[in-house]
Amino acid sequence: MDWRRKHVLGLSDFRPEEIEFVVDTARSMEEVLTRDIKKVPALRGKTVVNLFFEPSTRTRTSFEIAGKRLSADVVNFSSSVSSQSKGETLLDTARNIEAMRPSILVIRHNASGAVQFLSRHLSCSIINAGDGSNEHPTQALLDLYTILKSKGKVAGLKIAIVGDILHSRVARSNLHCLGKLGATLWLCGPATLLPREMARTGATLTNDIREAVRDADVVIMLRIQLERQKSAYFPSIREYSLKYGLNKDIFALAKEDAVIMHPGPINRGVEISNDLADCSRSLILDQVNSGVAVRMALLYLLAGGAQ
Ligand code: CP
Repeated sequence: MDWRRKHVLGLSDFRPEEIEFVVDTARSMEEVLTRDIKKVPALRGKTVVNLFFEPSTRTRTSFEIAGKRLSADVVNFSSSVSSQSKGETLLDTARNIEAMRPSILVIRHNASGAVQFLSRHLSCSIINAGDGSNEHPTQALLDLYTILKSKGKVAGLKIAIVGDILHSRVARSNLHCLGKLGATLWLCGPATLLPREMARTGATLTNDIREAVRDADVVIMLRIQLERQKSAYFPSIREYSLKYGLNKDIFALAKEDAVIMHPGPINRGVEISNDLADCSRSLILDQVNSGVAVRMALLYLLAGGAQ
């Protein structure tokens, strides 16, 4: 395929064949990761800057490892120790980083649309590592990759996404990604955290976790994003957990070979019980593992590797 994208800002405008091309490229990258020496020179001489304005464990680390596996120079920027604390604007910060001539900026920001805004003012490539409640495209691509490795397909699977849908960039990107590849998507959460307009995506909406999980092939649990909640969306964490937490009894309604996913970080005992988070049908750490190959693929494609 002829890869023409300069940025990966979201999956809303990705075509199914582009998504499949990323998956195919990630498979090649995974082969690199099985070698004794897990390094190729594909991005030698290129610089990747991880520009994170929000905390991250998985995304930032896996982008750093991905860049290093491809021989790029990787620089990690953390807003908490940057001149942002002295009043510098987002755009000024980004322009100053760009003046040092990186090839790719990997950006996470708490404002929805921040990466789209910066892409209009900068000339280097940008990968969205999560912008507010908008999109987290690399998470959705690694979720897809993980499902394909486990199930061999996505089309026709019933995939339930349960939790704080309103604030979840993971849910939004997965709606685009998994929906375009033919999954049957169910969204579940309390009415206050389940925007009715999401029914327009073709997903089925329900406030009943049993209905969402029944006969599901994949159950994706989401964290309650208290940092984005401006008001009370449910009476208490305990009540939320009782109504929307995944436990053995609820998961027993899913298909016999159903798997559990969660983008992390998980709140044990809130959205998922301890035993399920660690059980053999949990793919939570497989998702983290997939993140390196998928992010290698995206860095490689944006750096012009497929041309
Ligand atoms: N899934 C995810 O984005 O995790 P981090 O916030 O740790 O990067």
